[in-house]
Amino acid sequence: MSVQGEAISTTGPLTTESGAPVADNQNSETAGIGGPVLVQDQLLLEKLAHFNRERIPERVVHARGAGAYGTFTLTADVSRYTRAKFLSEVGKQTEVFLRFSTVAGNLGSADAVRDPRGFALKFYTEEGNYDLVGNNTPVFFIKDAVKFPDFIHTQKRDPYTGSQEADNVWDFWGLSPESTHQVTWLFGDRGIPASYRHMNGYGSHTYQWNNEAGEVFWVKYHFKTDQGIKNLTQEEANRLAGEDPDSHQRDLREAIERGEFPSWTVQVQIMPAADAATYRFNPFDLTKVWPHADYPPIEIGRLELNRNPDNIFAEVEQSVFSPAHFVPGIGPSPDKMLQGRLFAYGDAHRYRVGINADHLPVNRPHATEARNYNRDGLAYDGRHGRSKNYEPNSFGGPEQTGRALWQPVPVSGRTGETAAPSHAEDNDFVQAGNLYRLMSEEERERLVANLAGFIAKVSREEIAERAVANFRQADADFGKRLEAAVQALRG
Ligand code: HEM
Repeated sequence: MSVQGEAISTTGPLTTESGAPVADNQNSETAGIGGPVLVQDQLLLEKLAHFNRERIPERVVHARGAGAYGTFTLTADVSRYTRAKFLSEVGKQTEVFLRFSTVAGNLGSADAVRDPRGFALKFYTEEGNYDLVGNNTPVFFIKDAVKFPDFIHTQKRDPYTGSQEADNVWDFWGLSPESTHQVTWLFGDRGIPASYRHMNGYGSHTYQWNNEAGEVFWVKYHFKTDQGIKNLTQEEANRLAGEDPDSHQRDLREAIERGEFPSWTVQVQIMPAADAATYRFNPFDLTKVWPHADYPPIEIGRLELNRNPDNIFAEVEQSVFSPAHFVPGIGPSPDKMLQGRLFAYGDAHRYRVGINADHLPVNRPHATEARNYNRDGLAYDGRHGRSKNYEPNSFGGPEQTGRALWQPVPVSGRTGETAAPSHAEDNDFVQAGNLYRLMSEEERERLVANLAGFIAKVSREEIAERAVANFRQADADFGKRLEAAVQALRG
């Protein structure tokens, strides 16, 4: 089956779903001229019933998005860090599919909004699909998956008003100081990219690479846009969101149609496993970056997008990405957020697309095949015909390899302990403060104005004060200016 699906033949008659020729596609069959419609008009009933079932549930987050196919080319030898085959030889190319998205908006929402952008990448490797489900931000708002549903509820529509509410957003962020770094990032200039082409992507989490000898490395991925970073101001975005709600989706499709293939330079930061325990930050904390001075990014490849999907529903809406889709030589880290995500995505796919979501053309492996004893469910293929559907068996079939995709890592302590291992500079504010201090004066002004404009909308003083207090802890000047700006707006 082709990835795109077959285009419908332009010759031959219109037919029903069962293939019978249709005589009249303009008029329902009535009882006499102008009479009521007959139940025997099965074409009408089939069309209405089919139409009612066209939609599948939209993604609970990242519902709004656009995707494209392309190629990843390895440009550096990383075989001493990972045994992943698609990363084994300089010059090697791997087909990819990348879906960009916003987070909070619904399927039909505008693209030009202040929100992180999803950067979900599927590598169709010869050892199975490797999904790197990242964002355009190197960090995140929270560091434990158990807080994710609460966090997202505050970003989405309030149960009573049906709108996103400043109260909910700032109440949660104020009470979750670990969000300060990401919120500083989000309300800065990069919080509204001009297009999907003009932003970076990040794997965000720390992942495990392991080599042939079984040595472990901790890795962070960066995708640096070759188009250059371009952002929209809040005012530009407000206008664009109204004038052209599909701005990002259109930009991506049209650039590829023009043959202007967007590309990203791929870099990794690599930490030898032994460094993790004594590093100045918890290296598995998703609210922190690894400063480049500590672990300089190494260029390893180039990602290019060069083919538009033919059918948005089949290839973008039904595409599924899971942080649990690893290949030999790559695995998870103990990051608590990542651990939660290992479960959440497959579960979402089974609900949203069905248990055979991974069999759809856009999702199935392209450079190898899935071979196992899972069977049946709603499927479009023969599900392995007469082959035995159990294992072990005496008739042959796929067998386990005996080698795990990733290496075991040491653990200690007792179950139920909530404290993370402590590191010298672990706190919720130091990197937010560093980010603020890195900004130019004009950037700081826009950051403070963007934050104040939103914080000023909350209904309770205590919520505003708690929100400001987090930024004050990050940097005294940041806090002072923000407090003044909020007060000026609240009067
Ligand atoms: C989509 C859960 C954190 C990036 C989703 C979906 C779920 C989910 C259920 C919808 C999946 C689907 O229906 O196909 C979670 C949970 C998280 C979390 C439980 C925290 C514990 C993150 C983080 C990132 C991220 C930290 C980025 C670093 C994405 C992206 C998508 C997505 C890019 C859209 C994937 C696509 O294009 O289909 N998330 N998420 N999420 N999430 Fe997360």
